Amino acid sequence: MDAATERDALIAALSWQVAMGADEAMLDEPVARTAAPPAERTPATTPGTTRAAPVPLRKPPPGGELAAGLAAGASTLEELRAAMQAFEGSPLRETATNFVFADGVPGAPVMVIGEAPGAEEDRQGKPFVGTSGQLLDRMFASIGLSRAENVYITNILPFRPPGNRTPTDAEIALFLPFVLRHVRLAAPRFLVLAGGVSAKAMLQAREGITRLRGRWHQVTNQDGTVFKAIPTWHPAYLLRNPMAKRDAWADLLLLQRNMKDD
Ligand code: URA
Repeated sequence: MDAATERDALIAALSWQVAMGADEAMLDEPVARTAAPPAERTPATTPGTTRAAPVPLRKPPPGGELAAGLAAGASTLEELRAAMQAFEGSPLRETATNFVFADGVPGAPVMVIGEAPGAEEDRQGKPFVGTSGQLLDRMFASIGLSRAENVYITNILPFRPPGNRTPTDAEIALFLPFVLRHVRLAAPRFLVLAGGVSAKAMLQAREGITRLRGRWHQVTNQDGTVFKAIPTWHPAYLLRNPMAKRDAWADLLLLQRNMKDD
């Protein structure tokens, strides 16, 4: 292969990786993860014994107690922001460009909790500013709400997972004390849980978003304070599945009705 052809082939391979979501360099040197491990790294087993089962995910995860302590120690939103920004318990901070805390009006009656920043949010350091955020704004505008006046927005994770992958259970468990404290300090009247990751984490539910959405639930905080919460489709899902907008509209009307009644 001549040099120009080889260069074109390498660029094509790189473009394919970016399209597949591998858009972050995690290490200085590439690692062939599909190659067989070197013999000396294969764990030895004594005849007649089996290898230990993987250790189940502990609760709280590593760093979880520190996160819970930092969250509990924050008595204002600004203190919480500073505590989260200083928290070094997650490797996601190494790959993210920006820490993404919140946007909108602190103390607003409606608080939205999404999943994690995407590429645009990571660039700007603000939640829901990409295409799904624009849809979210239009959805709220349809019931007379906006982040300039009466909506406050955050995510379960304050850092973008590399390549926009779904957050792991351990990452969610690590940041959950911060999110619960965030809710307590922002003290909204209603929570909107955007998407399955947010709904399952905040409600500690096993069911998926299909079963959870469309009705009211309760989120109980560390100190027993209870918040009314409505799970709904994530706007990114609505962009891919426009038929589901009908459900999201029904969820928004439920929110609007409760805001009037409450
Ligand atoms: N998706 C989310 O869940 N949150 C954002 O901030 C952006 C996209």
